[in-house]
Amino acid sequence: MLFLRALFPFAFAILLSQWPETDATKQIEALSRIYKEKLHTNSIDRRHFNASHQSHVVRILSQKGMRENDRIAKLPGQPPVRFKQYGGYVTVNQTAGRAFYYYFAEAQRAHHKSLPLLLWLNGGPGCSSLAYGAMQELGPFRVHSDGKTLYKNPFSWNHAANLLFLESPAGVGFSYSNTTADFRSGGDAKTAADNYAFLVNWLERFPEYKGRDFYISGESYAGHYVPQLAHTILYHNKKAGKTIINLKGIIIGNAVINDETDTIGMYEYFGSHALVSDEITKQIMRYCDFSANATTQPHQCNQAAEQVDKNINVIDIYNIYAPLCWNPNLTLTPKKASVSHMDPCSDYYVYAYLNRPQVQKALHANVTNMSYDWEPCSDVIKKWTDSAATVLPLLQEIMANGLRVWIFSGDTDGRVPVTSTKNSINILKLPIETAWHPWFLDREVGGYTQVYKGNLTFATVRGAGHQVPSFQPARALSLIMHFLDGTQLPNSSRF
Ligand SMILES: *[C@@H]1O[C@H](CO)[C@@H](O)[C@H](O)[C@H]1NC(C)=O
Ligand SMILES: *[C@@H]1O[C@H](CO)[C@@H](O)[C@H](O)[C@H]1NC(C)=O
Ligand SMILES: *[C@@H]1O[C@H](CO)[C@@H](O)[C@H](O)[C@H]1NC(C)=O
Ligand SMILES: *[C@@H]1O[C@H](CO)[C@@H](O)[C@H](O)[C@H]1NC(C)=O
Ligand SMILES: *[C@@H]1O[C@H](CO)[C@@H](O)[C@H](O)[C@H]1NC(C)=O
Ligand SMILES: *[C@@H]1O[C@H](CO)[C@@H](O)[C@H](O)[C@H]1NC(C)=O
Ligand SMILES: *[C@@H]1O[C@H](CO)[C@@H](O)[C@H](O)[C@H]1NC(C)=O
Ligand SMILES: *[C@@H]1O[C@H](CO)[C@@H](O)[C@H](O)[C@H]1NC(C)=O
Repeated sequence: MLFLRALFPFAFAILLSQWPETDATKQIEALSRIYKEKLHTNSIDRRHFNASHQSHVVRILSQKGMRENDRIAKLPGQPPVRFKQYGGYVTVNQTAGRAFYYYFAEAQRAHHKSLPLLLWLNGGPGCSSLAYGAMQELGPFRVHSDGKTLYKNPFSWNHAANLLFLESPAGVGFSYSNTTADFRSGGDAKTAADNYAFLVNWLERFPEYKGRDFYISGESYAGHYVPQLAHTILYHNKKAGKTIINLKGIIIGNAVINDETDTIGMYEYFGSHALVSDEITKQIMRYCDFSANATTQPHQCNQAAEQVDKNINVIDIYNIYAPLCWNPNLTLTPKKASVSHMDPCSDYYVYAYLNRPQVQKALHANVTNMSYDWEPCSDVIKKWTDSAATVLPLLQEIMANGLRVWIFSGDTDGRVPVTSTKNSINILKLPIETAWHPWFLDREVGGYTQVYKGNLTFATVRGAGHQVPSFQPARALSLIMHFLDGTQLPNSSRF
């Protein structure tokens, strides 16, 4: 998910009168805050990200014995499974005392030796890959409404890959820093550098994955993290003159890619999905300046944006047709759970589960007894100092290096909707290799896809909100399997 929770306290107050007081409410504020922040001030560095501006020193620390200590025998309330799990800390910066928490679910059964390694990142900035990716989207388990027990996700992506979830940057979830100044000086560049330091050290701890085909995936604001980390990997591979990390491709969903087109596409989506009147949409398009350099907006723009907020703040903008969470209370016995019907209150179940001391112990998390709770989106990160206006040049670089790039889009998300993503891809002006067509799963249309010449595939996922694997788990698994296999999505239900 996106949504900075507390990052921009001075940004817009959003009208929330009819909303239940939930975490989801806070999440609604998050990404719109960073967009609005970027539209109204120039306190965020929006320049193009480049790894050569970063510290070149990547410390590889001894990881001896750590892997065995990270082995998770069994999580509290967990059904039996046939794969190995690990969780623990990797120090990314010794001087500052920064350590990142990871959770690793090896691929199911005997295939883990041949299947690739897949990293998943959530966005925010400030949201946790454990909260969303692992426990509500593509991980092997979901949390029951009792906040204590787990059930299996039959569509877990560890049927297709060895799955690595990372809480990043410091201040997110269990990942921490002993230097609190880090929480006010973070941004895209430091996140990429720390993510890279995490990876090389993690591979030292799990050396059998060193040469393995490696892919990076993520959603939302991870539309920044994923290509920025890929760029950093390419940079270090080139500098070293050898393959340090065997990166093969990236895949991003409902991703923040290019601020100007992302924002225009968002308002287009609101208008075309009957959430906002045509008059207000026209006023937005006429008076707002979404270009990268704009820092002030005329009052006609602000006035229209207020009207938009009134209309959208009463629904879940991350999945416009979804029900809201009206009762976040845990239940004594688990409610009947279904992976195919996402419970809108699951954030609360995950919050309860991951804050249980015995769960943290089993996960090898919170070993320093932090003074604050585990949160799905960070309350401790206070400032975001750099956020590139666009990652399109990075996507071009990754494609030019012959890596596979897939961009997917759940078509009921209103925050980084399909219109935004199409607008952003269109800027690249790539020739089409396979024309737009429906793709199929179990005889139903899973979504639509278009393949571009130059190593880029675009695919929608029908009926999915912002967190695609939460809302369409089977379609999401099919998508990731085709991505990892390097095969096109099926153009007929016969394949
Ligand atoms: C470690 O983090 C500090 C800031 O907290 C930074 O000044 C320093 O350059 C970092 N060290 C490395 C090797 O990245
Ligand atoms: C952070 O500080 C705690 C308490 O002093 C210490 O145990 C821990 O190792 C430190 N973390 C890092 C990454 O250095
Ligand atoms: C933004 O500013 C840069 C230089 O500061 C300039 O090159 C660019 O054309 C400007 N973009 C727009 C859309 O005005
Ligand atoms: C949730 O629990 C609280 C405290 O026990 C109670 O006051 C509240 O009515 C419950 N909410 C619902 C919707 O049942
Ligand atoms: C953290 O708390 C637990 C239980 O309260 C205790 O056993 C442990 O020693 C503490 N660890 C640190 C590093 O303070
Ligand atoms: C860490 O553990 C302490 C108790 O030792 C608890 O109060 C705190 O909420 C936990 N924090 C996180 C981030 O898990
Ligand atoms: C796509 O990858 C190939 C290598 O597999 C490379 O030669 C080509 O330039 C890439 N295309 C683009 C548009 O970057
Ligand atoms: C559909 O996909 C199959 C298998 O990839 C391919 O052989 C066939 O030509 C495609 N058909 C059309 C109409 O594009």
